Amino acid sequence: MNQILSALHKFKDGYVSGEDLADKLGVSRTSVFYYIETLREHGYVIEAHPRLGYRLLDVPDRLFPDEIQRDLKTEFIANQVWVYDKTVSTNDVAWDMAIKGAVEGGVVLAEQQTKGRGRLNRSWFSPKRKGLYFSLVLRPQVEPSYAPMITIAASIAVSMAIIKCTGLSVWIKWPNDIFIDGKKAGGILTEMSTELDRIKFVILGIGINTNLSEDDFPEELKNKATGVKCDRLILLKEVLISIEKYYKMLNEKRYDDIKNEWKNLSFILGKRVKLAQGDKVYEGQAQGINKEGGLVLRGDDGFINEFSCGDVTQIHTDKN
Ligand code: BTN
Repeated sequence: MNQILSALHKFKDGYVSGEDLADKLGVSRTSVFYYIETLREHGYVIEAHPRLGYRLLDVPDRLFPDEIQRDLKTEFIANQVWVYDKTVSTNDVAWDMAIKGAVEGGVVLAEQQTKGRGRLNRSWFSPKRKGLYFSLVLRPQVEPSYAPMITIAASIAVSMAIIKCTGLSVWIKWPNDIFIDGKKAGGILTEMSTELDRIKFVILGIGINTNLSEDDFPEELKNKATGVKCDRLILLKEVLISIEKYYKMLNEKRYDDIKNEWKNLSFILGKRVKLAQGDKVYEGQAQGINKEGGLVLRGDDGFINEFSCGDVTQIHTDKN
């Protein structure tokens, strides 16, 4: 069936005859007809012309591995892809895959998550086919203290992909929030397994709201969350390409390049912010990030503090 799809994709601007398809696959024309019907049942729109043959008019809004990998211009990201109709959390599935030895770049996706989660034990709203929910298995060559930088690199990658697909202005709130029009459109959850001073693997979980408008969100997220209006498959492929680019930068230790790109996208740079770590709250002006991706704050006493984690909110005062 994949070969039929590939042929239909290849001749997308024209028709491919049932006879050619049958020859190519070494099957009867009746079998070709049967395959075409199955593809239609999966949501593919295929025109059948009595003389010219078949023509692919539209692909469904589904995350099929073949469609994800078709013409995907990456070296190692998404060489292995697993798609679930429904799962608890793609991060959990990817974690198990990593323990079992999944190769670097493997991607676990789900059309729906029943217990999608975000940072700080928050849940991630993951309704069926209304977003992109996926996790990558990575084995970065940096020390565990660089974990925030992995999140930063991923948040830049996701932002750049959204900008490319939509042309919208996208902002990052340190370390992992993706904002559009002042509302959260996506987030990154980085989880890692370490051994002494070495990262064994990282599970990079990415959630992007896509086909969601304000009314679709539960009450507590209304006014806070938004969706990216664009084709999920196109956006997913752009994100995967972009992740590979920024992940390579990270492994090449090009921290200054990453920092500079982050500066252009940062929501809080130069602003007065509050950073909460459990019960402790720090205030100061966001000066930037350090080479490990930690947030650098200048307190009112003039002292500089660096934070590798925390929850940041902007303080709106005259000092901003
Ligand atoms: C956050 O904003 O706090 C991070 C959200 C991360 C959500 C994604 S969806 C795919 C992956 N699986 C999860 O359970 N979480 C991440």
